[in-house]
Amino acid sequence: VIIPVILCGGSGTRLWPLSRTFTPKQFLPLTSKNSMVQETILRLPQGMADATFICNEEHRFMLAEQLRQIGQDNATILLEPEGRNTAPAVALAALHAYKDNPDAVLLILAADHVIEDQSAFHKAIVHAASAAASNKLATFGIVPDRAETGYGYIQFERSSEDFSAVKQFVEKPNQAVAEQYVASGEYLWNSGMFMFKAKTFLDELEKYCPEILSVCQQAMSNVQHDLDFLRPDKEAFLSCISESIDYAVMEKTAQAVVVPLDAGWNDVGSYSALADVLPASDDNNNVCFGDVVTDDTRNCYLNSSSRLIAALGVENLVIVDTPDAVLVADKDKAQNVKNIVEQLKQAN
Ligand code: GDD
Ligand code: MG
Repeated sequence: VIIPVILCGGSGTRLWPLSRTFTPKQFLPLTSKNSMVQETILRLPQGMADATFICNEEHRFMLAEQLRQIGQDNATILLEPEGRNTAPAVALAALHAYKDNPDAVLLILAADHVIEDQSAFHKAIVHAASAAASNKLATFGIVPDRAETGYGYIQFERSSEDFSAVKQFVEKPNQAVAEQYVASGEYLWNSGMFMFKAKTFLDELEKYCPEILSVCQQAMSNVQHDLDFLRPDKEAFLSCISESIDYAVMEKTAQAVVVPLDAGWNDVGSYSALADVLPASDDNNNVCFGDVVTDDTRNCYLNSSSRLIAALGVENLVIVDTPDAVLVADKDKAQNVKNIVEQLKQAN
């Protein structure tokens, strides 16, 4: 049995002011009429078990409502009192699945991706499932087209099999290293999706980050049930360190393999990434929602939730109007929107 596990506790600060504390990007309809989390479920192949979601306590009703809208009534929803990044989140899901079924296989999915070619994605899942069955930690690798520093990089051994051994996994290298990796042709991007037996992951976590495992075990030994929600023990979980699965396990494990994924994958992490996946005008402007007028304007992302936006003689800008905040940014600096959010947090 394959259990999809959807990580939806991130904050999506690079998409401020659309993405806010109360409605982070995974709950927004950014690329279609469905929210990102709904899209994540709707693109899965048939025949999987009911999904498990891990999100923040304060988003539970929004998530439950969005799942109800797409007929997902039997999901398991694990609630975190505060995020501790993805390693503890995956640990909670793995412990929960393992308790019910020691052979459970997990398909770990982020809630902020676009995948255009579903059938290529489904084929890759079949290959990853065979790797997971032989106690591997499967990653899905994307051929890089630029030296992106926000991704993990996977050096792999070329093989004719459905999956290849991973020589090295490097999470978020700096610019110079990323450039070298892309130029070498030996690296793939880590897509941020994983497939493994719950048991394989827990064994590797025990080897490389036993403190996360033991705290999560404690938290899961005292789970509170409330309607459809599961709350791991708050005090135990809050004592967990914050770490991503990439640093905690994937950089260290010797059991990683990579399945190539050529399916129009995109992490909608920033406005420039979002602009890349949306339909554009002849001047390469993306006009999303609301009223927008442009003249002599190129390569801009324009999003208005109420007022009219008029853009004249500008290029390469992100302009986002919301009821209480307006963002005007250079598209090439789209990654740094998170710095603005940091400043705002400090000011409060
Ligand atoms: N439940 C929970 N709790 N979910 C979380 C938390 C948390 O504390 N933090 C993040 N998430 C969710 C996010 O909502 C997202 O769906 C997913 O986990 C991945 O987190 P990101 O914060 O978006 O990770 P990233 O994009 O910086 O890096 C990962 O993805 C890249 C590809 O998109 C890594 O796996 C990289 O190696 C990879 O290249
Ligand atoms: Mg991401």
